[in-house]
Amino acid sequence: MTWALARDLPHHVGIIMDGNGRWATLRGEQREAGHKAGSAAVRRVVRAARRLGIGALTLYAFSEQNWGRPGGEVDALMGLLEEFLRSERGEILENGIRLVGIGDLSRLPEHVRHALDPLARDSEANRGMTLALALSYGAREEIAEVARKLALDAKEGRLDPRQIDANVIAARMPSLSVGEPDLILRTGGEQRLSNFLLYGAANAELVFSEKLWPDFDEADLFEAIHVYQQRMKSQVP
Ligand code: FPP
Repeated sequence: MTWALARDLPHHVGIIMDGNGRWATLRGEQREAGHKAGSAAVRRVVRAARRLGIGALTLYAFSEQNWGRPGGEVDALMGLLEEFLRSERGEILENGIRLVGIGDLSRLPEHVRHALDPLARDSEANRGMTLALALSYGAREEIAEVARKLALDAKEGRLDPRQIDANVIAARMPSLSVGEPDLILRTGGEQRLSNFLLYGAANAELVFSEKLWPDFDEADLFEAIHVYQQRMKSQVP
């Protein structure tokens, strides 16, 4: 199956990993159990994407809005993030993966930063797949931050405001440092972007899966990429 997927492979895939809570509720378990199973799905999907030759994978791991969830759930998610970063560190470095965090990282607890920052630094020069974790991320907030910096540069004479165009904005957007997303995939049955990669999504193919994130596996990723490739085939250049 893998060779058949090699043509028209999307370079940058973004994933909205939704359905952890419902997965747990369906089993009569706490939402935290769904996030734990969701972490296992993250490991599976990162491996599958790397094997496939995807250039960049951006995972919506914690949104700006997720800070509004009950404290216990936020703590559980932060614990899982730290655990993921520590347990995958070896594999990430061995496989030449570059790990980056995007979003308002200053809001993350120290224990997460202590795992994230050294891994981002140590993997910075890697040229294999880029794994971007969107953490405390919101696309509108990202756009606002770029606007703020552009305004400041213009005010302080470092930038001529007449030069600002769509490319100048894109070049300053951390979520687009790996290129625009070619494919944005959302699991869990909902069909919306929920403040994920809004600026970069301008030309992205959107694929929605009914599968709840903890059930999502390699075959589901292949299927979504196959849908993307079929759409590419029928596109008029
Ligand atoms: C949505 O499920 C998912 C999240 C809020 C966060 C995603 C987190 C993980 C997959 C686990 C930790 C991440 C890493 C990178 C190790 P939901 O709770 O909104 O699901 P629901 O819509 O069914 O309630």
